[in-house]
Amino acid sequence: MKSSTLLLASCLALLVLPAMADDKDIDARAASIRQTACQTCHGPDGNSGDPKVPRLNGQLAPYIFSRLHSMRYPVREAPRAIHNMGSVAPELQTKVIAAIANYYAGQAPMADGHAHDGLARAGEKIYKNGAGPVPACQGCHGVQGQGSDKAPRLAGQHGEYLVMTMQAFAMGIRVSEPMNRHVWQMPAEQMKAVAAYLAGSHD
Ligand code: HEC
Ligand code: HEC
Repeated sequence: MKSSTLLLASCLALLVLPAMADDKDIDARAASIRQTACQTCHGPDGNSGDPKVPRLNGQLAPYIFSRLHSMRYPVREAPRAIHNMGSVAPELQTKVIAAIANYYAGQAPMADGHAHDGLARAGEKIYKNGAGPVPACQGCHGVQGQGSDKAPRLAGQHGEYLVMTMQAFAMGIRVSEPMNRHVWQMPAEQMKAVAAYLAGSHD
């Protein structure tokens, strides 16, 4: 190698290596926060065993990121979210939030667990076709509830969390356009039906 090439290579190394070390540092910090904080409630790999705590495995990374980010300015968040996550999430750096979001998004989601009993069948109809003023959920959340670039994954989520969340939207204690608009006219029975369909056999 000519000495000028060698010089160029070492200059490049000086530029690139600190960036790589920095990324490793972020990943290590993200892993340690997951294992010491997040895991105690959300379970290993984000597959929470508590029906009030949402599953994060296979959730879309941009949605995880945006929800963690909104904990810093929690005017949009339900008191329950602030109560549980308010002490951990606001402390996190943006890069750490992104690494955590990528980790959970990369974990296998629950296998298709759509249930097909009476209640779940009623829920499937609402999910696919809507009901009166309530629009079809699949338009944003995906045909299978797998999520899309418009809205998060819902399939395989805990039914109890889904119902509580729809109620929080309906009462405006969790602020989200369009969800506040969509669910405020939904009777409790319809919320339960959609949740039964989405949670399926995993609840
Ligand atoms: C003390 C228990 C607890 C801890 C610790 C905790 N969470 Fe949560 N988390 C919850 C609960 C409960 C909710 C549901 C809040 C609600 O009702 O909106 C939640 C919601 C979330 C959501 C929104 C999920 C969704 O489907 O909208 C994300 C993302 C999340 N947590 C990530 C994390 C991460 C990352 C950490 C670690 C930095 C963490 N949580 C630590 C209890 C906890
Ligand atoms: C026009 C698009 C749109 C339609 C239609 C829609 N949603 Fe949503 N939904 C969203 C968006 C966007 C979010 C994320 C809100 C946020 O970031 O807080 C969301 C969030 C949710 C959440 C919270 C997920 C979580 O993990 O906390 C639930 C539950 C939900 N929607 C259920 C439904 C149901 C049930 C229907 C059908 C009755 C429906 N949505 C129809 C766009 C939509």
